[in-house]
Amino acid sequence: MLDALAEYQRLGRYGFTPPGHRQGRGADRRVRDVLGDALRCDVLATPGLDDRLARGDRLPEAEALMADAVGAQTAFFSTCGSSLSVKAAMLAVAGGDGGLIVGRDSHKSIVAGLVFSGVQPYWVAPRWDAERHISHPPSPEQVREAWERHPDAAGALIVSPSPYGTCADISGIAEVCHERGKPLIIDEAWGAHLPFHDDLPTWAMDAGADICVVSVHKMGAGFEQGSVFHVQGDLVDHGRLKLCADLLTTTSPNVLLYCAIDGWRRQMVEHGRELLTAALENAARARTELARIPGITVMEQELLGVEASHDLDRMQVLLDVSETGATGYQVVDWLRENRRIDMGHSDHRRVLATLSMADDKTTIDTLVDALAAWRVQLTDPRPPRMRLPEPRELQLESVLRPRDAFFGPTEAVPIEETPGRIAAEQVTPYPPGIPVIVPGELIDRAVIDYLRTGLAAGMNVPDPTDPELNTLRVVAR
Ligand SMILES: Cc1ncc(COP(=O)(O)O)c(C=O)c1O
Repeated sequence: MLDALAEYQRLGRYGFTPPGHRQGRGADRRVRDVLGDALRCDVLATPGLDDRLARGDRLPEAEALMADAVGAQTAFFSTCGSSLSVKAAMLAVAGGDGGLIVGRDSHKSIVAGLVFSGVQPYWVAPRWDAERHISHPPSPEQVREAWERHPDAAGALIVSPSPYGTCADISGIAEVCHERGKPLIIDEAWGAHLPFHDDLPTWAMDAGADICVVSVHKMGAGFEQGSVFHVQGDLVDHGRLKLCADLLTTTSPNVLLYCAIDGWRRQMVEHGRELLTAALENAARARTELARIPGITVMEQELLGVEASHDLDRMQVLLDVSETGATGYQVVDWLRENRRIDMGHSDHRRVLATLSMADDKTTIDTLVDALAAWRVQLTDPRPPRMRLPEPRELQLESVLRPRDAFFGPTEAVPIEETPGRIAAEQVTPYPPGIPVIVPGELIDRAVIDYLRTGLAAGMNVPDPTDPELNTLRVVAR
């Protein structure tokens, strides 16, 4: 794809086709000043990069090279993020009238997939570290129990790595699914780089998953929205998966995204090992130096273990700042305002630095210096108090299918009156994008207190109809 774009530009091709701007011609100068390079690369996939019948096989060849690079049987590129890819996977496995065993620590795009498809979720609760107030992916035993309760489910869907880099025991879970002849989908949005280095957690296909969805734009080096889904084995109909993706996708894919995915694949094949070795060394150094800052705990061993996660992507550097008295929200706001640094994630007690092969000594020093400076100036953080629910209070009872709750008659009621009502919309602190409330769940007082006090403390909750959470949409009585 990348070579095809270079050739398009070298040959000076011109299209009486969309896009209307013709590699920047016709676009406003102020737009070109900022977006000129991107506009030059914005051409039609067909006819443009390839001819009207796609006789050059550009996309299939790029996808085959990707599959070959990572050792999957088939790879599909998507320009609509893992948000689309994961829905396509859900439809392919359980679409129609099926059920799916799903980790409750799923991303909101999975919940959206349940709403669209009508698929019945059989939730598996994540494991909770109540002391640190963090969840870990479900264990193989939990998935086995879910299969015992719901033997007719069409498959299972688990997120791994989590947005914090913590990983499930995918091979154990795959074994449990395969004993029943059922497929396992892994949402590996945060694991694009995993196939390319042995010191990173095992990537889902090597661990036996049947479908695996990755966001190249997260831990790879593509543009936002670039995603790939991989398939292997015969438990999933590859043709059906392609058809399901076709149902959801755009008919105008942005070739910039394809080219970036393709170019990143080549870079990984040629240099992935050395680039990721250097990245892991940088991450190890960052961990050591950040741990020297008083009051900051660099989380690692506390995330691993029998009752915790199976593995950890050490490129995700999770910092617990609770000892300093500050919240993660306060830290990231200070870093943005005073050091022009943005962080990947923050919550009531943590901050996440997502490192990548783009980082080097300079960027790591910048991060360490900035956090050290934040710590030095900190005198009296006085964070607003948040009411944190107990793990059992976060496990809301699911009483209706998400689709039925979402599309049935609903009403907006004052949030104080919602305990005991059935949610009709999802409510998701972002990041990490894991809904606290899913349509169809019975709302309880503890999650309402958590969300309201969280908002006051700086939590970002972008998805409910009323972003201030004065009201919430519930199933009408
Ligand atoms: C676990 C998980 N799955 C899926 C997605 C959606 O990915 P994308 O942003 O590529 O649509 C995200 C995004 O943050 C995610 O964290």
